Amino acid sequence: MDNKPKELRLILLLFGGTGDLAKRKLYPSLFNLFKKGYLQEHFAVIGTARKDLDDDKFQELVRESIANNGDEGQVKSFAAHFHYTHHDVTDLKDYSKLKDLLNKYNEEYDAQGNRIFYMSVAPRFFGQIAEAIKSEGLMSDDGYNRLMVEKPFGTSYETAEKLQKQLESGFSDNQIFRIDHYLGKEMVQNIPAIRFGNPLIDATWNKDYIKNIQVTLAEKLGVEERAGYYNTAGALLDMIQNHTFQIVGWLAMEKPASFSDKDIRAAKNAAFSKLKIYDEEGVKNNFVRGQYGKGREVWQKAYTEEPDVPSDSKNDTYVAGRLQFDTDRWQGVPFYVRTGKRLSEKQTRVDIVYKKSAFDFGEFNQDKLEEPVLSILIDPVGRIEFSLNGKDVTTEFQTRSDLLSWQVSDKDKELTPDPYERMFHDAMNGDGSNFADWTGVSISWKFVDQIAKTWDEDKAPLETYESATMGPVAADRLLAETGDRWIYRG
Ligand code: BG6
Repeated sequence: MDNKPKELRLILLLFGGTGDLAKRKLYPSLFNLFKKGYLQEHFAVIGTARKDLDDDKFQELVRESIANNGDEGQVKSFAAHFHYTHHDVTDLKDYSKLKDLLNKYNEEYDAQGNRIFYMSVAPRFFGQIAEAIKSEGLMSDDGYNRLMVEKPFGTSYETAEKLQKQLESGFSDNQIFRIDHYLGKEMVQNIPAIRFGNPLIDATWNKDYIKNIQVTLAEKLGVEERAGYYNTAGALLDMIQNHTFQIVGWLAMEKPASFSDKDIRAAKNAAFSKLKIYDEEGVKNNFVRGQYGKGREVWQKAYTEEPDVPSDSKNDTYVAGRLQFDTDRWQGVPFYVRTGKRLSEKQTRVDIVYKKSAFDFGEFNQDKLEEPVLSILIDPVGRIEFSLNGKDVTTEFQTRSDLLSWQVSDKDKELTPDPYERMFHDAMNGDGSNFADWTGVSISWKFVDQIAKTWDEDKAPLETYESATMGPVAADRLLAETGDRWIYRG
């Protein structure tokens, strides 16, 4: 974000205005944009949901969600921009009321016809809402119309394509902002800075120097209270199809022609289009699925003993796999990905494993050289680590691995916008760089569908792993087959 805030004018129509996401993330993020001056006089939020509320009650709910983040005066004047209307998203007749309100507040706030439609409702309503926005005339003729869509974007290629067609009835792809909150994370956005900002790294970002790349999205928590959703999605749909793929996009892409959203997407899509899509045999050879069993502590229950999980569930709570890109840059370089619940630690990171030199330092140093590793730690702590070969302090000439490390400071952390704040700001500026686009999403579904099919048909073993470990040993074997090993071991 630039330093001098330019006031943004718009009406935000929020479907799902009383929901948990709105209270926890959306209102606090909008409030931050207000405090920073991006939102001032000329914005309004129309919240809709099925509850019967009036503006006063709605504003109270908004005030409560941000009460701890600002002084009373600010909180009050921010909340005064919020209006509420009861709305049934499935009832077409109900949309004319929204149209009237949009026009009314557009005039009242002089929002210049700019509209963002934000869908924070159950995903099964996304398509229907987008169609109604168009058919019931909710879009403005002057100013912009943009759609922000929460995840998941479909549950398979087929359902995602159907949804895409519904959205396309009113919106072109540059008006659709598909949210993937990992793209809003500071250290994910740091990947292109590190990669393209340093010729040293940029020049070696290829098969001649890199042995393999590892992306880890490890979670300590289990399924919690979300079995209803999670048991149908599993780690594959919950974390690989979206978040993991988006990180891989930044790593695998060619250098974009410019840093515009159009060029960034084009470069990512060029890489995605060269991803090898596996057949059943390929899935069996390149992917491992797991499910957590009990841990050593009493509270670490097996997945099948968690509330609302069927005792015979074969759902994957862990996935590890190998991705291969058929490009000059990446020929023969595996991209290993893994994610899981109830692992030993929360840790989101990328490890770039470089090839080690074949230089011979003589008899005392035989086999001492290590593979240098550049690690980008994303969560819970932002850090960059580089382990490289240096000289040991002994008299004989020997090498050892030394670690260089930089960590995001507390001050930087304080200044870092929350992903939702950033995503709002970008969407309001029409910048799609950090949103998932349809070409990339469609390829990720085609890839993931093949895995889901093999697993649904139970054609690959489901490995059990002990809670609070780093997953099944089969995931270690997967790397060992090609002489690799996981860098992060929990
Ligand atoms: C969500 C998944 O998209 O991401 C959750 O549905 C997961 O299952 C969460 O826990 C992880 O996000 P973060 O930002 O905490 O790493």
